[in-house]
Amino acid sequence: MHFETLSFSIQEDHIAVVTINRPEKLNALNAEVIDDLDACFSALQADPTVRVVILTGTGEKAFVAGADIQQFTTLTTASATAFARRGQGVFNLIESLGKPVIAAVNGFALGGGCELALSCHVRIASSNARFGQPEVKLGVIPGYGGTQRLPRVVGHGIATEMIITGGMVDAERALNIGLVSKVVEQDQLLETALEMARTIASNAPVAVRLSLESIANSTLPSGVGMDAEAELFGNAFDTDDVKEGVTAFLEKRAANFSGS
Ligand code: COA
Repeated sequence: MHFETLSFSIQEDHIAVVTINRPEKLNALNAEVIDDLDACFSALQADPTVRVVILTGTGEKAFVAGADIQQFTTLTTASATAFARRGQGVFNLIESLGKPVIAAVNGFALGGGCELALSCHVRIASSNARFGQPEVKLGVIPGYGGTQRLPRVVGHGIATEMIITGGMVDAERALNIGLVSKVVEQDQLLETALEMARTIASNAPVAVRLSLESIANSTLPSGVGMDAEAELFGNAFDTDDVKEGVTAFLEKRAANFSGS
């Protein structure tokens, strides 16, 4: 796969690394990046050999510094709504990919960059990372899911503060509020993400997918989520991998999952 604004590689067996590559604009998301993310993640979703994806940005300064502000100069009410829907659609694809996406946040994750990290399933940050939703400083609001996902991740109060002040939080505070699950030095970021990806990739892929699906139901009323969890738990017993996992445990050996 070749993209103008992304680099893409299968780093190791089952692990894909996607890097947003517009360093001269701090990896800001223009329409081309959004189109490339759509095409790239659609292909990753369809590729049965890929079990985990790592998403990061080029350079040492920015993961993604937001939607490309240049685009805002021509938006009208109608085209801005369509603009938000387009980004939301691509970020929803990432969130519902059916395989885990780890955001390796290597610097500024602002506006659409923070929202992109929030659409990933796990976030790891380098110590220089800065998160924020500065849209109100431009006279707009987050439009790629930030008002919905940020409160779910960090809670209503802190999300509201972040969104209406437009302020940034550093990596340490991001860790404290649960916005990221790990902070490491920048030169350790990719290796830390790869280590986590290897652990996930060694687990049963269908069980990982069903786990993501069930976790996504955690915002539903409890009874509905529990019913869905019981059903998904049952679905896991339709796989060869449950036989392999249980047999391997009983035989005191490592499991070798086929993904079926
Ligand atoms: N959209 C378009 N271009 C952007 C951008 C964005 N969101 N963020 C950064 N850039 C561009 C800058 O315009 C600059 O381009 P230029 O060299 O052609 O002038 C280049 O990236 C480098 O950014 P610069 O502002 O010079 O770096 P800095 O270190 O002084 O500041 C930031 C870094 C992240 C604090 C600053 O770039 C910033 O505030 N960006 C906008 C963040 C934002 O509001 N995002 C939400 C958008 S909805």
